[in-house]
Amino acid sequence: MEKIALGAHPYLYPLPTVIVGTRTEDKPNFITVSFVGIVQQHSPPMISVTLHNNHHTSKGIRDTKAFSINIPNTRLLAKTDYVGMTSGLTVDKSEVFEFFEGHITGCPIIRETPLNLECRLIKEIELGGESVLFIGEIVESYSARKYLKRGIPYVPKLRPILFSINTNSYYRVGRKLGKAWHEGLRIKEKVRKLS
Ligand SMILES: Cc1cc2nc3c(=O)[nH]c(=O)nc-3n(C[C@H](O)[C@H](O)[C@H](O)COP(=O)(O)O)c2cc1C
Repeated sequence: MEKIALGAHPYLYPLPTVIVGTRTEDKPNFITVSFVGIVQQHSPPMISVTLHNNHHTSKGIRDTKAFSINIPNTRLLAKTDYVGMTSGLTVDKSEVFEFFEGHITGCPIIRETPLNLECRLIKEIELGGESVLFIGEIVESYSARKYLKRGIPYVPKLRPILFSINTNSYYRVGRKLGKAWHEGLRIKEKVRKLS
């Protein structure tokens, strides 16, 4: 396959779509975020979000040292897009979603999204440009029974929204392809026999 260079772009497809919740200037605020990633799985579990320095949300995270990551489903597409095109600086987004409080007083967690992660800020890294990386320790996760299979969040029931950066489009998840740490076993066995 002949390859062509496309330039230095953050081409990673698809990205997740989450809603970050904070309390800024004593008011709940919600925004859409796709620059999100697991930093560490255990002891303690950590997640990061990269935000523009000037977002109202960035101020809220700095002030309260807390935020929630809320994973919307495809039914919440319009609301999810809306909170990504309006700033809490000029628009009151506190009533877009119903929310509750978990362990961290004041940190709004969205009731209607299938899955939520409640996070305590543990590190803030200035990235040199206009962005800042916030790393949070996940202190609790929340869901409802109908989104779980054997007690674990189940993708076909969660129906998360995927995001395509640069083409600015949303997608849904397709079919299951196989099992991790299983599909490669045949190759592993072949390599073992050859060595
Ligand atoms: C699909 C989508 C993904 C986005 N991802 C990010 C992101 O990863 N980081 C970021 O800083 N802003 C992201 N935004 C933009 C913010 O959500 C948007 O600027 C928002 O209005 C900021 O609101 P605030 O000022 O109330 O914090 C995204 C917007 C959309 C629609």
